[in-house]
Amino acid sequence: MAGQEIYQASTTAPVNIAVVKYWGKRDPKLNLPTNSSISVTLSQSDLRTHTTAACSSKFPSEDTLLLNSSPQDTSGARTQACFRELRSLRSALEASDFSLPKISSLPLRIVSENNFPTAAGLASSAAGFAALVRAIADLYQLPASPTELSRIARQGSGSACRSLFGGYVAWQMGTKDDGSDSLAVEVAPASHWPTMRALILVVSAEKKGVSSTSGMQITVATSELFQRRAEVVVPKHMSEMEEAIKAKDFEKFGKVTMMESNSFHSVCSDTFPPIFYLNDVSKAAIRVVEDINKKAGKIIAAYTFDAGPNAVIYYEEENTAAVAGVVKGALEGLDGWQSREIESQDAGNLDARAVQVLKDGVSRVILTQVGEGPISTKDSLLAADGEALKK
Ligand code: DP6
Repeated sequence: MAGQEIYQASTTAPVNIAVVKYWGKRDPKLNLPTNSSISVTLSQSDLRTHTTAACSSKFPSEDTLLLNSSPQDTSGARTQACFRELRSLRSALEASDFSLPKISSLPLRIVSENNFPTAAGLASSAAGFAALVRAIADLYQLPASPTELSRIARQGSGSACRSLFGGYVAWQMGTKDDGSDSLAVEVAPASHWPTMRALILVVSAEKKGVSSTSGMQITVATSELFQRRAEVVVPKHMSEMEEAIKAKDFEKFGKVTMMESNSFHSVCSDTFPPIFYLNDVSKAAIRVVEDINKKAGKIIAAYTFDAGPNAVIYYEEENTAAVAGVVKGALEGLDGWQSREIESQDAGNLDARAVQVLKDGVSRVILTQVGEGPISTKDSLLAADGEALKK
């Protein structure tokens, strides 16, 4: 039996933004998707969740989770599924090696922090569940690969399975009922195409829209367009996107990214009652990207939107001036530009009305780039007595 010691492991995990979107579940309990998807993992210098997972017989008997200093409910089916799966892998390990401390049945204490404002409405559940699963797997010293762990993180939040890898990541939908083949795999590491940049325009939404979990359920139940998307559009975009990434072909990458975002938001509009995630500010961002590409005479910038109005604009480093510089020229003074040295460029060729809508509706920018998967760290969020560090 384990004594009073505190066992712990800490990790950081990244956010990912899909370029081929996951939207629709064939099994809501296991989070099995109706189509495969692909994402780009973003740098943890700008967006990450830091998590410490600990267990000890001296902790109170309930598992606990603290996020940004506020206690979270751990009784939900998703968190419970992750705890159960990881505990069962640890107990199998303990059964096969009697020298290992029996820690699988000890209460868990999870402490997490995001380095970005939660209010920004950026998909934080992906980084959150990826960090939770990776930290507990490290605590339990599981010999599990990122792909094996993706099967567990997927049950926390579908998109979280892709945050177990850095770079360019595919979530293969799989066909089995038990979900054992619905897994994330690396398409290419960040080092294969390190010049990918992302400019995020954080749009101040008045109220929270429909959550992705419930939104996609209503889409599956009511949209006829959805079936065509899942059967025809996404399989085509999947293979085109993999080719584009392998060949580092930005024009192709950008075209598929934008068409994917448009296809996803079209099935949202075709949902009954319709779901609108894009607002006028989002549409102004689309207009500005179109103007930038028109001026360049080719696709050098690509927009994509998830279940909210924030715009993510992908571009290559060599086009920093023509993309981020021009947007900075139009949106001078916003919070976030100071994080990178970007020179403002003349924004005169952008649609003046679109620029005004962006000025009124964008609250801050985040400049980031493709990045690495989860990183183990010695930096613990617990004090020596096992209590969460006071912030
Ligand atoms: C639009 O992964 O948040 O961002 O599995 O219900 O937790 P759950 O949904 P979630 O959905 C993300 C949807 C998306 C597209 C994507 O990331 O692929």
